[in-house]
Amino acid sequence: MKRNVLITGGAGFIGSNFIRYLQKAEPEINIVNLDLLTYAGSLENLKKLSKNSDYHFFQGDICNQHLVESLLREHNIDTIIHFAAESHVDRSLEGPGAFIQTNIVGTHTLLEAARQVWLNEKRISDKPVRFHHISTDEVYGSLSPTAPPFEETTPYAPNSPYAASKASSDHLVRAYYHSFELPITISNCSNNYGPYQFPEKLIPLMILNALTGKPLPIYGDGQQIRDWLYVEDHCEAIWKIIQHGSTGESYNIGGGNQPTNLEIVETICALLDDKAPLPDNEPHRQLIQFVKDRPGHDRRYAMNITKIKNTLGWQPNYNLEKGLEKTVQWYLDNIDWLNKIIEEKDYQQWVQINYQKRGN
Ligand code: NAD
Ligand code: DAU
Repeated sequence: MKRNVLITGGAGFIGSNFIRYLQKAEPEINIVNLDLLTYAGSLENLKKLSKNSDYHFFQGDICNQHLVESLLREHNIDTIIHFAAESHVDRSLEGPGAFIQTNIVGTHTLLEAARQVWLNEKRISDKPVRFHHISTDEVYGSLSPTAPPFEETTPYAPNSPYAASKASSDHLVRAYYHSFELPITISNCSNNYGPYQFPEKLIPLMILNALTGKPLPIYGDGQQIRDWLYVEDHCEAIWKIIQHGSTGESYNIGGGNQPTNLEIVETICALLDDKAPLPDNEPHRQLIQFVKDRPGHDRRYAMNITKIKNTLGWQPNYNLEKGLEKTVQWYLDNIDWLNKIIEEKDYQQWVQINYQKRGN
C-alpha cells in the first residue's frame, strides 16, 4: 500500500534519519515533513535526501491545529509519525514550559486534527489510517541495579519535566484510541545515537569536545546506565510497527547495550586516539572531568524488547562497538556539518548555561 505520510519533527536527529531510511525502504512513498526548526532542527540534516521521492517540507508548529488539518486534507495523509518534541532532559530542568507546550499541547493538537479529518470528516475512506507516537523509556523512571528491564506493562514513573511531558503525551495518545477509536501505536525507545545528533547530547558532545581539546564533562560519578541504540535500528523498528503492529499497542525498543556513561566516553576516547590522535599522542581520556550531577538524575534504564522481537521479528542489527565506530567516523567525515550546526543555533549559549554551573 502506497502511503502518504506526515512526519513531525523531521528536521531533528531521529526524524531526519527516519526520512532517509523511509525513502530508501519505500521509494514510492509521499512524505510531508512538518517542523518548526527550533534550535534542535536544521535543514542541514536534510541535505542528502533522495531526489526521486515525493517530499515536501513545511516550517510550522504542531500546536497550530488549522495548519495540521490543512496538511492532512491537502496531502491526503493516512499515516502520522510524530517525532516533534522538546527532547533534552537538561533543558527541561532549565525551562519546563516549552516541554509542556510542544510535548503535551502539541501532541493533543495533532490528535485533535487527526480525529477531525480522519474520524469526523472521514477524508480517508479507502485505506487504513495510523497515528504513530514516538516516545521514550524515560517515562518508566529509574531502575535499581538489579531490577528487571522495563516492560510495556511497567507503571509510568517519570522523573524529569521532559519525561513527565512525554508520559502525559503517551496517555493522551492511548486515550484517543480508547475513547474515539483513533488507530494509534506507541513506541518507547531507549537512548539513540548516530549521525546528525545535535551535539548537546552525550555522544556527539563528547566527540566534539574531544576533537577540539575541550574537557569531557561526566555528570556525577559516571556510573549511570543507558540502553544505547543505533538510530538506524530505531528507524527500522518504527517502520515495522507502523506496517505490522496492532493498533492500540505500545512497543518497547532498545539496543541491548548497557554500559555506564563513563565506559561510553572511554570508548569514544579510544576510537579517537586511533582515528584523530591528539598532539604528542596524549590519550583523549585525559580530557575527562567529573562535574556536578544532573538534578534527579535517573540511575539506570534497560528495555525488555521481547514483545517487538516475538510479534514483529525486530531486533537491533548494531552492537555498541559497531555503532560507535560508525558514529565517530561519521562525525569525523562531517566536520562541516558539525561546525554549521554549532554556529547556526544557540549552541554556545547553551553550553555556558549548562556547564558553567557544573564547575566546568
Ligand atoms: P530532536 O530534539 O533532535 O528533534 C526534535 C525536532 O522537533 C526538531 O527538528 C525540532 O525543530 C522539532 N520541533 C520541536 N518543537 C516543535 C513544534 N512545536 N512543532 C514542530 N516541530 C517541532 O529530537 P530527537 O532526539 O530526534 O527525538 C525525536 C523524538 O524521539 C522525540 O519525541 C523524543 O522524545 C523521542 N526519543 C528520542 C530519543 C533519543 O535518544 N534522542 C530516544 C527515545 C525517544
Ligand atoms: O532514554 C531516552 C532519552 O535519551 C530520550 O528520551 C531523550 O530525548 C534523549 O535526550 C536521551 O536523554 P538523556 O538524558 O539520557 O540523554 P543525554 O545525552 O543528555 O545524557 C545521556 C547520559 O549522559 C545521561 O545519564 C546524562 C549523561 N551526561 C550527559 C551530558 C550531556 C553526562 O554525563 N554529561 C553530559 O555532558
